[in-house]
Amino acid sequence: MPHKIYITRKLPEAIKIRLAEHFEVRSWEKEDEPVPRETLLEEIKDVDGLFCMITEKIDEEVLQAGKDLKVVANMAVGYNNIDVETATANGITVTNTPDVLTETTADLAFALLMASARRLVETSDTVRNGEWGAWSPMQFTGQDVFGATLGIVGLGRIGEAVVNRAKGFNMDVLYYSRTRKKDKESDLDIEYAELDVLLKKADFVVLLLPYSSESHHLIGRRELALMKENAILINASRGGIVDEDALYQALVSGEIWGAGLDVYEQEPVSTDHPLLTLSNVTAVPHIGSASVKTRRAMADLAADNLIHVLNGKKATTPVNL
Ligand code: DGY
Repeated sequence: MPHKIYITRKLPEAIKIRLAEHFEVRSWEKEDEPVPRETLLEEIKDVDGLFCMITEKIDEEVLQAGKDLKVVANMAVGYNNIDVETATANGITVTNTPDVLTETTADLAFALLMASARRLVETSDTVRNGEWGAWSPMQFTGQDVFGATLGIVGLGRIGEAVVNRAKGFNMDVLYYSRTRKKDKESDLDIEYAELDVLLKKADFVVLLLPYSSESHHLIGRRELALMKENAILINASRGGIVDEDALYQALVSGEIWGAGLDVYEQEPVSTDHPLLTLSNVTAVPHIGSASVKTRRAMADLAADNLIHVLNGKKATTPVNL
């Protein structure tokens, strides 16, 4: 009898065909809608493997309901949607999709930095809306990227890939991470700074760290107050790392100059969210890893993980067992 798996979202056909060669596959097929919680709780009951997304909360209730569950393969590098502790206690392997999305996500973080600095979305809107008046000296002026100081919070793979881009723009790079990475400092030509120091010195602060109870609201009122008036905050990791009310206040009061956001505390962000009323916020819909090639690679890696674990092998990219 083949193992049974459940896929929580419509996937490219080639991935489904590949999985169907190994498993009995059931899946949620509505293109742009996450699987309803009740459906997931029902479907999980008899499957050996779960292929899921960041939109599903894989908590104790789901893990307990999955009596035969052996592996949860998340199609994302972040896995704060999964209760890894409970999974581990139940002998369930949890896997993610690192590496394959590093460069694509770094591209987006840097694109967001440039778009925010040079007001690309805001000024593009003025062209479309017929609001482009006669040229004037200080009209639509932004911040320079070339030669500016970049502060990276969280020097993982994506952080390093952003440093490589920044070096092409002659930027001075400071980084903060929980553990100092001395070997990287000379390799990448970057300098370690305590978080408060980084916030005071950087023209661009880019958040690229995992979300956890420790990083929840790491950037709040106090931290924003430390930043320069010309500074721009870029968040391309998880919305919960920033206190959005404090960010709104800092942007309105001119405490910081702008923000580029790919992620939000609640996703999809509500259209009446105060941050979306501000012209100095560049907002995109969690598209860090969204290139055709990378999303396919992520789906393939999640599939590899299911195939390995359910064939009794070690997962390619486990986060626990
Ligand atoms: C990830 O992989 O964690 C991204 O945020 C989802 O694309």
